Amino acid sequence: MKRIGIITSGGDAPGTNACTRTLARRCFAAGITPVGVFDSWDGLLKGSVRDLTRDDVTGIVQTAGTILRSSRSRLFLKPGDAEIARNALARHTIDGLIVIGGNGSQSAAALLAETGYPVVGVPKSIDNDLVGTEATVGFLTAVETATNALDNLRATAESHNRVMVLEVMGRASGWIAVEAAIAGGADLALIPEFPLTLDQICERLKTRHQTQGRNYSIIVVAEGASAGIAPRAPARGLGQWLAEAIEKRQGYDARCTTLGYLQRCAAPCAGDRILATRLSDCAFELLIGGKTGLMAALRGANVAAVPLRDAAGKTTGVTPDLYRLAEIFG
Ligand code: F6P
Repeated sequence: MKRIGIITSGGDAPGTNACTRTLARRCFAAGITPVGVFDSWDGLLKGSVRDLTRDDVTGIVQTAGTILRSSRSRLFLKPGDAEIARNALARHTIDGLIVIGGNGSQSAAALLAETGYPVVGVPKSIDNDLVGTEATVGFLTAVETATNALDNLRATAESHNRVMVLEVMGRASGWIAVEAAIAGGADLALIPEFPLTLDQICERLKTRHQTQGRNYSIIVVAEGASAGIAPRAPARGLGQWLAEAIEKRQGYDARCTTLGYLQRCAAPCAGDRILATRLSDCAFELLIGGKTGLMAALRGANVAAVPLRDAAGKTTGVTPDLYRLAEIFG
């Protein structure tokens, strides 16, 4: 293999650049040219492709974002799209591709692999919802950011006798919400996997304030939790809606903070830099070893390969054991 393409796709996540750097440096050491595909799949079709230099990947292990830029592409939604991508890769004489991305991106990689093209995935998403790996690059940093926010909100919550709602990301899963709730001692974690209705939420708050004598509460809600809370809870702006509903029903002063993209744009924590390096190093080994159609994954304490097909198009949710800890220790 003489030229290996690197593409970042889907939402950026802390540690993405650490992946790109690892792959490029392994290429340089092996006498292979790392080829950057910029702006994801759309960029591939438009020819936003160039060889990466050592300067491109110097000083980026600690940076947020992705030097290759990213987008949410609609390529691979139609039959025949994988062939189009394959032909574009051939035009740029790219012999094999490493796809750094989340769910949608690994599904695209799986379709490309089905055409016989050599492709390997690196799982990256703040949501941590990919099947086949115990962690995705970016998740640890997102949890850190959400935990810091919870730690800080506590002071104002207590000072003003308030209910503080922190809305965090997590479209289909509550990993960030539940881990931040455990680490930050939130009183309630509202996640899609274990729904609580508005009535149940209000009842819990009442018990805490009236029976346990607390003057404040901290709730962390995953953006994707609306369906379980109430039939009219909005999919967007859930935290604000919830704070208003609690205030109206219970009479508690309630406020919402939406963490939003601050979860994606923070510098990667050490854990994410290390995970990015381990998974990308494994992906490189797989690709040059001719083992393709696979995704590098964290399995227990080790990195291993899982079939892209098994990871594609599915999401994994928070386990009952983890949710139980948030319930007990929140
Ligand atoms: O997949 C990561 C994620 O940050 C989700 O948590 C969130 O719902 C989504 O991306 C937002 O995506 P976009 O920035 O494309 O609107």
